[in-house]
Amino acid sequence: MRHLISANELSQEILTELFKRADEIRENGKQYADRLKGKIIATLFFEPSTRTRLSFDSAVMRLGGDVLSTENANGNSSATKGESLLDTIRIVENYADAIIIRHPDNHSSSEAARISTVPIINAGSGNKEHPTQSLLDVYTIYKRFGKIDGLKIALFGDLKFGRTAHSLMELLNQYQNVEVYCLAAGDLKLPEEEYNSHVLPNITFHECTTISEVPKEINVIYQTRIQKERNDGIACEPIRIDKKILDQFSNEVILLHPLPRNDEISPELDDDKRAMYFEQAKNGLYVRMALLTKIFE
Ligand code: NCD
Repeated sequence: MRHLISANELSQEILTELFKRADEIRENGKQYADRLKGKIIATLFFEPSTRTRLSFDSAVMRLGGDVLSTENANGNSSATKGESLLDTIRIVENYADAIIIRHPDNHSSSEAARISTVPIINAGSGNKEHPTQSLLDVYTIYKRFGKIDGLKIALFGDLKFGRTAHSLMELLNQYQNVEVYCLAAGDLKLPEEEYNSHVLPNITFHECTTISEVPKEINVIYQTRIQKERNDGIACEPIRIDKKILDQFSNEVILLHPLPRNDEISPELDDDKRAMYFEQAKNGLYVRMALLTKIFE
């Protein structure tokens, strides 16, 4: 593995290996404490972030590496002076052994990888991809159910602009017989031309228009936020989940959310054993540590 640009680069074999390593790191982090010794990793963020940037920074430090972090590269880097992303990469590659990048342009990471002499990890590119988020999403599901094959997963919210939903589809397609039930907030539907059973043959897609159409025996509900910053006034009505709604599903269902949330999940669910979004965010640290060790192998 050199770069990670899209979730579709992660085969089931690599996923299994990364999940196993994430488990090992979780249990015995000390063994990995020097893995990135002598390495400098740049986290170059042109869009806001809490979890992704800090968990990457923490992952690098826990592996013994050092971090160069730009949390507001749009406002605080030479981008304000008109420097192109590619020129920024040509400079930062001299200072860092890998670059983790978040950028509003869908092709930012792939373009960066095309010219970079050091590994590029996509930490969110426009509305298209967020492969490391899907890695921790699938890891969380895998830990809970011990498998991905045959699971039924409901996707709620902004399926049009939500990059985490898009990367999640790419990763789920690495498994067999996954059923995905889409319940979009208003017109924010999954782009059909890219996410369908011809392009992603291991997923059967079902479109729902109300919560009552989502099967009771669903395994996972993946809730998402309306991407206000990308939504050009498209009609949408957020789907809110509270205890009453969650109680309509099986006791075994898990509720995930990439976070940050607005009001699409009621805080009354935060201590509910079905609500796993904080555990999911915590898992991000271990899978990102696992990924970094793999990139430098
Ligand atoms: C997501 C993102 O940036 O796409 N956040 C994250 O990385 N956990 C989801 C979002 O912003 O809604």
